[in-house]
Amino acid sequence: MKLLVVGGGGREHAIIRKLKENPTVTEIHALPGNGGIAQDAVCAPIAATDIPGVVAYAREHAIDFAVVAPDDPLCLGMVDALAEAGIPAFGPDKKAAIIEGSKVFSKDLMKKYGIPTADYRVFDDPAKALAYVEEEAPVPLVVKADGLALGKGVLICATREDARQAIHEIMEDKVFGQSGSRVVIEEFLTGPEVSVLSFTDGETVVPMVSSMDHKRALDGDKGLNTGGMGTVAPNPYYTPQVARECMETIFLPTIRAMKAEGRPFRGCLYFGLMLTPKGPRVIEYNCRFGDPETQVVLPLLKSDLLTIMEATVKGTLAQTPVEWSDGSACCVILASGGYPQSYPKGLPISGLEKGQIPGCDATVYHAGTKVREDGALVTSGGRVLGVTATAPTLREAVDKAYAASDRITFEGVHRRSDIGARALAALG
Ligand code: AMP
Ligand code: GLY
Repeated sequence: MKLLVVGGGGREHAIIRKLKENPTVTEIHALPGNGGIAQDAVCAPIAATDIPGVVAYAREHAIDFAVVAPDDPLCLGMVDALAEAGIPAFGPDKKAAIIEGSKVFSKDLMKKYGIPTADYRVFDDPAKALAYVEEEAPVPLVVKADGLALGKGVLICATREDARQAIHEIMEDKVFGQSGSRVVIEEFLTGPEVSVLSFTDGETVVPMVSSMDHKRALDGDKGLNTGGMGTVAPNPYYTPQVARECMETIFLPTIRAMKAEGRPFRGCLYFGLMLTPKGPRVIEYNCRFGDPETQVVLPLLKSDLLTIMEATVKGTLAQTPVEWSDGSACCVILASGGYPQSYPKGLPISGLEKGQIPGCDATVYHAGTKVREDGALVTSGGRVLGVTATAPTLREAVDKAYAASDRITFEGVHRRSDIGARALAALG
């Protein structure tokens, strides 16, 4: 089997490492990949959003199966284009990817099908949005740009003044571009957050091991929102009872709703949940694997990933075993100093040999690395590396991930020192 993975971050590296475990896989290509992925796959400098470029490459290299990992190519219709070229691909088609591509779509879907989420209103007129937050809306509230905004289009507003400011920025100054032409204004919810990724073929939904992201840049959940500074799995707040409730009130209803809308979802559907005092609520759907959730979830998968991915395309997921290890995993992200704002690139990374830590029982997933002309591995992004360890207990996984991550350094490296602390406290 010759495989192609579209994307080039830590998530894609984790997918590639897992796919490689299948003995029928002879070649993996990554577009564009990165400096560390190049240890595990053939990388070529074609952007993940370049649909004609990716399709032409896949044809030229006689790819048997493709995996489209990031949200933007999925929302642009990469899976549709590959399918038209006769190349089966894991991931939702454009019609189904809208569940992430438009927050208005996903909120209206949940309302229509009674799926629990925060109360909300939609506005495309800034004057009406302003009138609503000034006169009616309860505060705190949350203002969300409708479209994709690199994970940044969500503003939490403690006061009416903050909300006015958020509407000006999103709808008038267009700080998130055209994705801010419409906004969702929603109720502020509280409670522990849980990420549940799932495999689905449009009929059957199989949740993966739950996980917990750490979105803020600094210890104690302080600082700016990032793409994620670390993850642990499983998430201790996601008890078997909560899992049953989510399956009945959220997962199955969502899969059925998408089918009823003529948009059956095949691929990985990510449920971003908040466990509120009134029960689990959907905060967001993503049409793809999470990053860095994937870096703790896939290492705990015992079954063959390629077989499961093919089953989501063929519609045979119900007959496909999906088994998980009983252990825990922790991923600590090493980021560039300054991330998520501006940061330098091109800094040499020390402590790695062929992209991994020699003699160490931890896996390094590369998110933003590049091989310089002289062969040195250097930083090339905000999130640079994810160091993942698995162990029978969460305590051991956290300790192993930190011990391993301490062996890697580059100028200005930033990591949180409390990944997993909240989960460990919840375990008591
Ligand atoms: P998102 O970009 O949709 O993942 O949102 C980013 C973060 O904003 C989420 O992980 C939550 O922590 C927070 N958030 C989003 N919606 C709400 C809400 N309705 N109430 C409270 N927090 C929220
Ligand atoms: N870590 C959050 C996401 O992938 O959206």
